[in-house]
Amino acid sequence: MNSTEDYPIGFFDSGIGGTSIWKEVHELLPNENTIYLADSKNAPYGDKSKDKIIEYCIKNTEILLNQNAKIIVVACNTATTNAIKILRDRYTIPFIGIEPAIKLASLVTKTNNIGVLATRGTIQSDLFEKTSASLKSGIKIIEQVGDGLVNLIEKGELESKEIEFLLKKYLNPMMEKNIDALVLGCTHYPYLIPSISRIVTNDIKIIDSGFAVARQTKNVLHKLNIAQTKEDCKTTHKFYSNKDSNVLTRLLNNDHLEILSKEF
Ligand code: DGL
Repeated sequence: MNSTEDYPIGFFDSGIGGTSIWKEVHELLPNENTIYLADSKNAPYGDKSKDKIIEYCIKNTEILLNQNAKIIVVACNTATTNAIKILRDRYTIPFIGIEPAIKLASLVTKTNNIGVLATRGTIQSDLFEKTSASLKSGIKIIEQVGDGLVNLIEKGELESKEIEFLLKKYLNPMMEKNIDALVLGCTHYPYLIPSISRIVTNDIKIIDSGFAVARQTKNVLHKLNIAQTKEDCKTTHKFYSNKDSNVLTRLLNNDHLEILSKEF
């Protein structure tokens, strides 16, 4: 019989973006089994109502609970900032969330101007507003909604002309406002880092929350005594997409992963 430590870490996102978080978690915790839900059929979450986002998050959580997840990583800023409180109140399973790393950016900025590229749902959330208000005084946040980017990434477009056009439109005004830190506030966006790096100047630090989430996941698993203690055992990694699983396959590019299309 399996013990809790053998059960998988569950992940969900509105689509393929949360795999950027999965990669960080897997690197830090290579002995853990994992299961990932890409709710691509309902992407993007970022322009849906808060109620709709909560409904999707509950649906995803129920599926992961049925698959015996021992902890759930909400690998989506939009889902975290709109729904994590409700999920934590409703379920006993531990949740790890992700928020735009503006606190970290506030520690590294010298110009005191931080750019944040995120979805509308994240930028308009109470949690993002609260975190922004908690930064030390003098820090200016230049917010930009990344309209259209998630749709293109979901199609597997990471370096197209259209991506370049949108990124220039969003990033140039931030650079004019003298940012020296750019926070990627959506888990899809780390896949755009090569394209972003060609546009922003070298003095701008690109910051995402992936490693922080992985570290937090590790800490919570250990604190709750549910971390996998066996080493070098065979792990399983299941990825389910309710749309086109080919994009996931291309993005993850790893024969040892099980990537399937599934209705949910
Ligand atoms: N990957 C998501 C995030 O971190 C959601 C993007 C979307 O579906 O709009 O915000």
